[in-house]
Amino acid sequence: MSSKLLIPRVAVIGLGLIGCSWIKGLRVRGCLEEVRGYDRNLDSMQLALSEGLIDAYSENIADVVRDADLIIISVPIMAVKSVLEAVRDHISETAVLTDVGSVKGAVASDVAAVLGANFSRFVLGHPIAGSEKSGVMAANEHLYVHHKVIITPQDHTDKDALALVRSAWQAVGADLEHMSVDHHDEVLAATSHLPHLLAYSLVDTLANSHENKEIFNYAAGGFRDFTRIAASSPVMWRDIFAANKDHLLKTLDLFSHDLSSLRAAVEQGDATTLMGVLTRAKAARDHFSKILARRAYVEPMKTASISYIANPGKALSGSFRVPGDKSISHRSIMLGSLANGTTEVTGFLEGEDSLATLQAFRDMGVVIEGPHRGRVTIHGVGLHGLQSPPNALYLGNSGTSMRLLAGLMAGQSFDVEMSGDESLSKRPMGRVADPLALMGAIVDTAEGGRPPLKVKGGSDLKGIHYDLPMASAQVKSCVLLAGLYAEGETSVTEPAPTRDHTERMLRGFGYDVITEGNKVTLRSGGELTATEIDVPSDISSAAFFMVGASIMPGSDITLDHVGINPTRVGVINILRAMGGSIDVLNEREVGGEPVADIRIRSAQLKGIHIPEDQVPLAIDEFPAIFVAAACAEGETVLTGAEELRVKESDRIQAMVDGLVTLGVNAVGTEDGAVIQGFGPEGSFGGGEIDSQHDHRIAMSFAMASLRGSAPIVIRDCANVATSFPGFVELSATAGLELVVEGGDGE
Ligand code: S3P
Repeated sequence: MSSKLLIPRVAVIGLGLIGCSWIKGLRVRGCLEEVRGYDRNLDSMQLALSEGLIDAYSENIADVVRDADLIIISVPIMAVKSVLEAVRDHISETAVLTDVGSVKGAVASDVAAVLGANFSRFVLGHPIAGSEKSGVMAANEHLYVHHKVIITPQDHTDKDALALVRSAWQAVGADLEHMSVDHHDEVLAATSHLPHLLAYSLVDTLANSHENKEIFNYAAGGFRDFTRIAASSPVMWRDIFAANKDHLLKTLDLFSHDLSSLRAAVEQGDATTLMGVLTRAKAARDHFSKILARRAYVEPMKTASISYIANPGKALSGSFRVPGDKSISHRSIMLGSLANGTTEVTGFLEGEDSLATLQAFRDMGVVIEGPHRGRVTIHGVGLHGLQSPPNALYLGNSGTSMRLLAGLMAGQSFDVEMSGDESLSKRPMGRVADPLALMGAIVDTAEGGRPPLKVKGGSDLKGIHYDLPMASAQVKSCVLLAGLYAEGETSVTEPAPTRDHTERMLRGFGYDVITEGNKVTLRSGGELTATEIDVPSDISSAAFFMVGASIMPGSDITLDHVGINPTRVGVINILRAMGGSIDVLNEREVGGEPVADIRIRSAQLKGIHIPEDQVPLAIDEFPAIFVAAACAEGETVLTGAEELRVKESDRIQAMVDGLVTLGVNAVGTEDGAVIQGFGPEGSFGGGEIDSQHDHRIAMSFAMASLRGSAPIVIRDCANVATSFPGFVELSATAGLELVVEGGDGE
């Protein structure tokens, strides 16, 4: 497409790195017929000619622009106006003009002043690329490859002119973005202009200090890294600071304010405030490429399309520990943040979902250290100590974060908006918005009760008695957490027992919660007291290996320190009912949660009708159980599991489709599935599986490969990182043969 571009006559005004690199890029790709150049310095023009960048030059700018189809103005911002005045009467009626300046508002005003407010053929542009080198000799035809170029079209910008400039940038490999003029200048003030101002200022301050010799003698690491950009062109930056004065001052004032607070924290030895700033900044810096892409810290890169090639495996063996429990990790951050005092967490799941919760609380002003090898230190702010976050809370793929936070946010004095990725944006939130509305909260959802959720602050909540319409621990927890802020008593009655981590952990933080049969009750007015939390391994992650070892003859593994909360052990009960060999060893209690080591040996499984009372107790494990059912002898029937259709994907459909692809006789029903197992002699065929970006679908089919007769290709596995970081590595230790394809190393 780019090779089709051919611009007959181009004029380039200003023969510096930026303009020359663009021209060189276009030239080597054969997009230009004739190029004429102009520069204040004769030397530069002669050099550009001898280098073959331009075909002609003139000391008279009028000669250069006459008859040009495209005029590239690549001069310091304050010089743009005089260039426009010099060329105004010499450009053709169809000439398109463009610039490359770092401030768009000032150039837009100059264009309006010189060429007229409605001049439509000037396309404002700004390539985000550069180098510490400058001048004609530094011209680099690759400078813009995969670099952003921001175009700031205006209402009156001519469509053909815009298209020409766009294709001239695309031809040199740039990634184009559009922004409004004002937004561009605001964003660049913060991301580029302020850092340059600070770098110049710091070097100047230190250079003027009487100890400057010492400083510069020892100025390795920090000084050098922080001030590299102070070696840029002073004229260019003087112009940029002046041209973007208003936006720069705004962001500078904000920075000065925060710097004064930091100064005060240093002066007063306020370690918590310092840790707050440093941990927030580190988290932001670690993920800064994602922030630049205007995504939250935790969103898996969409470009990272990861596939697993799962080859037929061997028997699983060994003893190992899977990562921390996701449900408990979420709750440790939430309750630790709202407690008085400092909560220490170990075994925290460093997966994308629980990190989304962690980041949300950092965004609301909580100082959280870590995670570092599963250790997190949370400096609690008390039930009423959260602060309004600067932006919408971005919760990635995590339904638990959004639903539990909805309850907590309903009790705050500030408004909050919560959004998520494509999958979360499709999930039902009416189930939490409805009971919260009954409590007096104002919660807006998008159409069909989907995210984003907007929770209004400052509502006076009233306790309710709520009969859960579905067995959902997330909805139960949401209502109970809102109950912490609601007048009087709040209770929830569930149709079937669901995971009770919220209730247990509230008690662990010293909060009174009464459980009577299927009813849970609490009253507001209490406080949470910081504590220590040891997060057990996640039985939902362990489940993949339980199934893997069960279906693969000769396997014998032990999974250490697995949470065996009675509301989570459905997978053990179901596999045992199918004939699985599962021993629960060394049972103990850790921080209010039962834990054990679990030994699994291969066994000949048989099909069963899964008891409906086990469904909520194994709700996340069904994708793996479907794989076990396919390997069993006879038919397995699942009913009463319609909730599976509204998880990270429609898990009934995703699993049935995948199994059928691999040659299994499986059909979905409204609330479950019927699977004909192939038994001990059978195996999965090879094939390509669409995981629907659902972590548990991906990991389940990885386990299926153990009994595969040919490789299984599993697409879109990046979200495995939401719940099971290190899955591929741990699988290799156990004996699986997974090859990862794609990803960008993030
Ligand atoms: C969870 C509850 C379950 C489960 C989810 C985690 C929790 O969701 O599927 O992975 O931590 O409370 P539902 O409440 O929607 O069943």
